[in-house]
Amino acid sequence: MLARHLLDIRLNHAQQKATVHAEQVSEALHELVEEGRLPEEALDQLRVEIDWLQYKQNFREPVVISPIYDAPPADSNGNGLRLKLPAEMRIDVRRIEPPTIKQEVQRGLLRKEQSETTSENYRIPLEEYRPFRKSIAWDFNALYWRFFTQWENWTGKGYEKALPGGISDAHHPLAVADSVADFWTLLKDLDTRKQLPPEIFFLEIGVGTGTRAGMWLNAFRELDAKRGTQYYPRLRVLLGDYSLATLDSSLPAVREHGALCSFLVLDALHPLKTLSFLKEKIMHIHTTNVYDNLPDQEFVRYQGRLYSVETRAYVPLGDVRRIGAASGVPVERFRKIVEQVADSGPDYFAGHARGMTFWQQTWNAMMLEDRIVAVDSLKESPFPDGLDEKLLLDIIANVKGDVRFHVSSGALESFMKTLPLLHPRGYFQVQDIFVRDFGDYRRAFRGPGKMDGSIVNWVNGALLKGVAERSGYNVHFTPFHYRKGATTSVLYATRKIEGK
Ligand SMILES: C[S@@+](CC[C@H](N)C(=O)[O-])C[C@H]1O[C@@H](n2cnc3c(N)ncnc32)[C@H](O)[C@@H]1O
Repeated sequence: MLARHLLDIRLNHAQQKATVHAEQVSEALHELVEEGRLPEEALDQLRVEIDWLQYKQNFREPVVISPIYDAPPADSNGNGLRLKLPAEMRIDVRRIEPPTIKQEVQRGLLRKEQSETTSENYRIPLEEYRPFRKSIAWDFNALYWRFFTQWENWTGKGYEKALPGGISDAHHPLAVADSVADFWTLLKDLDTRKQLPPEIFFLEIGVGTGTRAGMWLNAFRELDAKRGTQYYPRLRVLLGDYSLATLDSSLPAVREHGALCSFLVLDALHPLKTLSFLKEKIMHIHTTNVYDNLPDQEFVRYQGRLYSVETRAYVPLGDVRRIGAASGVPVERFRKIVEQVADSGPDYFAGHARGMTFWQQTWNAMMLEDRIVAVDSLKESPFPDGLDEKLLLDIIANVKGDVRFHVSSGALESFMKTLPLLHPRGYFQVQDIFVRDFGDYRRAFRGPGKMDGSIVNWVNGALLKGVAERSGYNVHFTPFHYRKGATTSVLYATRKIEGK
């Protein structure tokens, strides 16, 4: 009879609906050892994380096992056949019932021990391991925005329909009215002090349908007329997005204000590159639901040591065969064709229907596997621009215990390369789903999830605040109180005023 081990199990959710609990996971793992399917040392070397994935479409199988390396593995694919210990085992209890725990854990354990010809669990990798921000999954995300009208026509469903409540929080009339009133108040104050510039720049990044910009401009024109201030004609409105299709589709929403608007192809990761001539000149910058859609990556701090989570996108062999049969792609050419489609879009295929089928089915089947590697052992820095190990460790110095968290690399880069555009009295407003405290990563799943053809990730607001405050900006958050149950909040950033 096997002596009981005290397992390292962490509960990362508070979902009442979950039927699988820590004791059942422990029981299942002990039984697997007794049955000879799991080595006994695994009971001491597995860190078990119990999650509840609220995104029905996501990149994870119900049980994911990620080896932890203190030095990078000799095999660059890290694709050994045996269970490598120590390892992290993440279990999504939304998709597991008590009777299936053992079976799912076993699936997670065995998937690589099968050969390509015998197992549908075998995985066709789409890339080498790398920080998630560099994954091909982000090329698919960009592809979605490039061709989103084709996606919507194909599915018959607009992207807003996938959002909670079926409408973007960007378009809430009261939120827009309040934003207009705040902006008008700032302009009036500057005007009174004789500091209002003749041209008043306003930038929106990631305009989507242009609906918010249209509503905002209507409301601003009305308020300005009512108060007789004549600020409206002085507005210079810059609508930025990296997708030409999006910019085109936003035109009708702001048509009435056409004389004030400029449409810019702009990468949210580097607004300063496109707009350096407006450094310190933009009075108000706004972005909604864009930061949660920018490249992201994860880190773990175990017992004080920092690890980078490297991911690899793959498609299970069973899906590769199914998609291949529907679109005429043999298994051995699958990876190459996925790369081509990510680059050139669905029209890579001669027939539109074939291209759309391949794109959508590949995206739906795309999964991620992880390996966790000590940062101090890596030759190449895993950090995005604007961050290094020292700064990150400083920001998380007060976070207690082990923690796995997102670094929201794209959001951080974007934020730090947008702030210098702000006029000294201007403000930057980011409306999104933020994690405001690192401890929140232990309380709920924060992504990535799939939203139609795009990716959604909560934004590490605590990190953005930590970095920006060390660079001379004030950052605070307010809850988005306009929709009941909304998880959205609004980040405000302004320059610190010398001497205050
Ligand atoms: C989820 S939509 C949000 C649209 C709108 N703001 C709303 O809330 O309804 C994301 C928008 O950001 C744009 N986007 C995503 N990544 C971008 C990037 N790196 N640079 C510029 N625009 C980007 C997309 O093209 C799309 O218009």
